[in-house]
Amino acid sequence: MLFPFIKNNYLSIDVGFRNIKVVEVAVNRSNEVYIKNFGIASTPLNCIKNGVIKNVDAVSSEISRIIRENNMKVKKSKIVMSGTSIISRVFLVDKVSDQDLDAVVNSAIGKNMPINLEEHKIDYKVLQELKENGQDKLKIFVTAVRKNIINSYIDVLFELGLKPISVDIPANSTAKFFNRDIKVNIDNVKFVNPNKGLNKDAFAVIDFGSETTIINILRNRILEFNKVILTGSSNMDEAISTAAKKSIMDAERLKKMYGISMPPAFDGSEEHIKVYKTLKDMVDKLINQIYMCLTFYEARCYGVKVGKIFIIGGGSLLKGLSDYMEQALQIPVYPVGLLDIDGIDINRNLNSEKLNFLVNAVGITL
Ligand SMILES: Nc1ncnc2c1ncn2[C@@H]1O[C@H](COP(=O)(O)OP(=O)(O)OP(=O)(O)O)[C@@H](O)[C@H]1O
Ligand SMILES: [Mg+2]
Repeated sequence: MLFPFIKNNYLSIDVGFRNIKVVEVAVNRSNEVYIKNFGIASTPLNCIKNGVIKNVDAVSSEISRIIRENNMKVKKSKIVMSGTSIISRVFLVDKVSDQDLDAVVNSAIGKNMPINLEEHKIDYKVLQELKENGQDKLKIFVTAVRKNIINSYIDVLFELGLKPISVDIPANSTAKFFNRDIKVNIDNVKFVNPNKGLNKDAFAVIDFGSETTIINILRNRILEFNKVILTGSSNMDEAISTAAKKSIMDAERLKKMYGISMPPAFDGSEEHIKVYKTLKDMVDKLINQIYMCLTFYEARCYGVKVGKIFIIGGGSLLKGLSDYMEQALQIPVYPVGLLDIDGIDINRNLNSEKLNFLVNAVGITL
């Protein structure tokens, strides 16, 4: 690589339903990133609807405050969209010449995806060449995003006087972040049923956000599956609030305090028992949906059994979550904070525990 030391600085922005994350990073030519600085603040209420930023002013002024308070100076910026309204599919098409591929893929999209081609920006990539019944086929991964969603994010960058470089989807961002050597800290190595046919070249990355849970599957470091579930950590707050008759704020506090830790057998408080039951119920439902995605990927997307699961996003901090998921799915689960990821470095003066929140913002800079 020529001049691997030349660095590009970016301001990278992830507007989540709950939190806005702004990260200043330096990326060199070998795609190594250094997280120089970051800021996280609450997203102003009711600003995002179906993935579109409806209140560009409110979101921009909050981002502007984060930039000012953290003394960030970089103008080149990248932004990641909410996952809510992004559709992705994997399918096989006949192998054709490169110049005919667009037409073949478009016609396959018309048949397989419930979208209006005019209103969406379509991206696709060829994952693999394979044979089906002796016929040469291409395995294609397609994503479609409504153009009005993309435009609302670009509006935010312009409103801020930044220099827009790209708007990307969370799946790409996660894929780029995890597209590298990941060393699982030796203390955390797990030996869950090593003979169950888990594939070491495939892993899932699950983003537990506040309104969404996003499941990504990478195989040989390439994104092969993506699904957005419209349930997130804030739904747990609502459920606890109802079950334990608490305000949403108290419910969130209880969620963070207890997590899915089992109440002590004889003298668990009534409150702890209620929170545990509610959270267990919700987590079980989510894990069930995750399980269905893993099965769907294996059976219908020409996939394999994933060998590991990495968890990211604020909701991944739920106490006991990784152990609980591991037991339920019989796949090793690792919170990203515990990983040693090749080529990702964070300023020592910053709180590296927050990396859980920053994966999407960092990933789009790569
Ligand atoms: N220690 C914790 N235990 C459990 N949940 C937590 C903890 N810390 C944060 N959360 C939850 O994480 C969520 C916020 O995470 P995050 O910032 O990743 O969401 P977001 O990106 O704004 O949402 P989305 O991706 O759905 O748009 C909140 O629901 C919050 O309650
Ligand atoms: Mg998020």
